[in-house]
Amino acid sequence: MSLIPVALGTTDPRGLVLITPEAFGDMEAWHATVAELRREAPVLRVEAEGWPPFWAITRHADVFTVSRRSDVFWNTERSAPGPDFQYDMFGALGIDLPRTLVQLHGTVHDQYRQVTSDWFRPAAVKGLQPAIDEIADEFADKLLEFDGHCDFATDLAVPFTLRVIMSIFGVPQSDEPLMLSLTQGLFGAADPEYLGDFADPLELVTSNIRKFEAYFDELTADRQQHPTDDLASVIANGRIDGQPLGEIERLWYYIIVATAGHDTTSFALSGGLEQLLRHPDQLRALEDDPSLLGNAAQEILRWTSPVRSFFRWAQEDFELGGVTIPKGDVVLTSYPSANRDEDVFADPMHFDIGRPDADKLLSFGLGIHYCLGAQVARREIRTLLGKVFERVATIDFDGEPQWSAAHFVSGVKHLPITYTLR
Ligand code: HEM
Repeated sequence: MSLIPVALGTTDPRGLVLITPEAFGDMEAWHATVAELRREAPVLRVEAEGWPPFWAITRHADVFTVSRRSDVFWNTERSAPGPDFQYDMFGALGIDLPRTLVQLHGTVHDQYRQVTSDWFRPAAVKGLQPAIDEIADEFADKLLEFDGHCDFATDLAVPFTLRVIMSIFGVPQSDEPLMLSLTQGLFGAADPEYLGDFADPLELVTSNIRKFEAYFDELTADRQQHPTDDLASVIANGRIDGQPLGEIERLWYYIIVATAGHDTTSFALSGGLEQLLRHPDQLRALEDDPSLLGNAAQEILRWTSPVRSFFRWAQEDFELGGVTIPKGDVVLTSYPSANRDEDVFADPMHFDIGRPDADKLLSFGLGIHYCLGAQVARREIRTLLGKVFERVATIDFDGEPQWSAAHFVSGVKHLPITYTLR
């Protein structure tokens, strides 16, 4: 089944770049197109075959408004942008539609978010720093074994971010390969590299959901009988109004933390290093002064913006950027576009770890659905890059980087590097 959307009627074909997996494989061209949209049609109606019609929101101010006005723009079971058949397939295969935090709204969302929100408070996340340091040291030490050449994405960024999230969950290292193939198959399913033996991305997605279900059912049973202080125990034993979490909600709670927790951050890390290699002066500045890593991580997140968009449903007519969005319509919030808005960021197409406006990034969204793991992700980025720079004397490209072709979460999936040690 083709995942290349086709424009309907008089739809401006430029709007399709927001939902076309392959378009995210060439981010320079992608950004050139959305820069035009920001200038000429910042609230653009897009009709594509097999997709719900939606309004593409590309300016920072409008993505900001949609995210803040959650009273008007609701998250629903179709918050993750995807073609109709992806959702129809769930029904056909007898699989319930996802019900993670990003698909919930209102009181139910607040209640479910509260189950883990203590875990993700800044003070609690600060307490994870020694564990993140230890894991980062372990992976940065692999540079000593790789003999001057490796793929930073697959050898360091992916396994590092996976290990951090698995250690937060409290699951054994031996389960990491399984978790990796499951999450890559869920988010990057359109990318042929992750298809494996499956002929169709949907088969892969549904098969993965079933495997997640089996894995997490076992984990829940274990943590209900032997609770520890890990996040899996918090989710397994979570209660709302005195009742255990619904089975579907509990499954998807695990899945969102497992998936949102590592692909996103590893894409930021690989895309960040890719940019630093293109800007050796900035790389040197970071090596000389690790205190710059905080702002550098923000700039990396602005630049890479690995979560590409979300859908929101308008509950009433609403004027946005001079256009009336009718009640019942869908809007698509484009985070990478908002993060390059020339009205907000000075010289936005320039990567600059010292930029004073990096904090205005929208990569983690905003408002009631603001990314729970934002503090964890920032710490992971600062820590791993810092540990790598402590060890290398020189570092450079060792081949062309490659981007994954996926419209929801994507970024640099291969980053061959060559380096010498200090
Ligand atoms: C670079 C890394 C990451 C990026 C770019 C990112 C981005 C996002 C975005 C855009 C949202 C939706 C925000 C909105 O709708 O306003 C979100 C939600 C979420 N993220 Fe992240 N995320 C990252 C890392 C993480 C990590 C490390 C975790 C977990 C440890 C995590 C867990 C979540 C959860 C649970 C939600 C749902 C929150 C809700 O709906 O209430 N994310 N993230």
